[in-house]
Amino acid sequence: MSAPLPISQVNIPPGVIDLGVGDPPFPLLPLALLRESAETRFAQNDPYFLQYGVEQGDVYFRQALVNFLSEGYGFPAAADCMFISAGVSNALDLMCTLFTSRGDTILVEEPSYFLALRIFADHGLRVVSIETDENGLVIESLEDNLRKFRPKFLYVIPTHQNPSGRTLSAERRARLVELSREHDFLILADEVYHFLSYNSEPPKAFAAWTEDAHVLSLGSFSKILAPGLRLGWILAGTANIKRLTGCGLLDSGGGLNPFTSAMVRGVIESGGLKQNIERLTGAYRSKLKVLDNALRRHLPEAVYSVPSGGYFFWVRLPNGMDSTELQQRALKNKVNFRPGVRFSSRDGLHDYIRLSFIFYEPEEIEEGVVRLKKTLE
Ligand SMILES: Cc1ncc(COP(=O)(O)O)c(C=O)c1O
Repeated sequence: MSAPLPISQVNIPPGVIDLGVGDPPFPLLPLALLRESAETRFAQNDPYFLQYGVEQGDVYFRQALVNFLSEGYGFPAAADCMFISAGVSNALDLMCTLFTSRGDTILVEEPSYFLALRIFADHGLRVVSIETDENGLVIESLEDNLRKFRPKFLYVIPTHQNPSGRTLSAERRARLVELSREHDFLILADEVYHFLSYNSEPPKAFAAWTEDAHVLSLGSFSKILAPGLRLGWILAGTANIKRLTGCGLLDSGGGLNPFTSAMVRGVIESGGLKQNIERLTGAYRSKLKVLDNALRRHLPEAVYSVPSGGYFFWVRLPNGMDSTELQQRALKNKVNFRPGVRFSSRDGLHDYIRLSFIFYEPEEIEEGVVRLKKTLE
């Protein structure tokens, strides 16, 4: 019998509990919200969203989105300063295309989101990594590297970082913006987890600084609604927006995802997005506790800080254990995780693993940790 055809990126062998998966759980994908919005939109009998879209993104959609963001961020965002992307991955790829050339240096955190590193590799960029601690990127390490390199941009995940779960402090955010002006590099702030905070308000988003030509804030619906939408945004100053909208890709193909934008617009305007985020944060807050309790109970020797939002625990293994080797044994015990080295741009972090508390039900999270414990014994 042939294997079932893959229908999503989530492709876990039967029986395996993959605590590495960084995708939202299927039961929390918002079928009903999108169905209602689509029905309303189609009933209007106006096919505008089936036409090539305006380069910057549908203006009504942008307006709905900036209204939502202004309330969520606590400061105003402007529709003129927003560009609609097909998600953060697309935004990063486009930024690399338009703002860099092969061989240019860029800066990332150590650790950083492993799949962004793949995008940077596709563009032939030289990646230099900056140290991080409990408060995110270490400013002294950044300053050291700014003395040695002239980076085109710094890629940073300031809030509930993937994989470390850490949040960059407010003071460091402000200092970073100053340094970007002094040394003339761009800050690409990937703020995908900003609205997934479970117990306190995160520091002010980088979106607050985007009037500055050096700062771009990248957002996405992947974590707050659904990744299959392939929809996101960039908030940036006018010159950067102009550069984005003037590119050949948009001249030929028009604005990105006008159809999806029209469907999601209704979800925002009806208050559905806000409700959905409340539903997600409620569910994820309790799953976070489940993973934390399971680790305390079954793996007391594991070292980690409890994140205050996002998707992940970044766990240091005891006795300098190599997580890539451990993975082979883990798979025999039908459990998986992401080895730390994948998040390193200098072949480090071998004794870390990334665990997600998002995808599974509580019993499965607990069972996954029990299997990990068995693997470590
Ligand atoms: C930090 C970070 N950035 C970007 C993405 C991908 O975003 P998108 O689906 O909008 O391309 C992810 C998904 O895991 C992520 O963790």
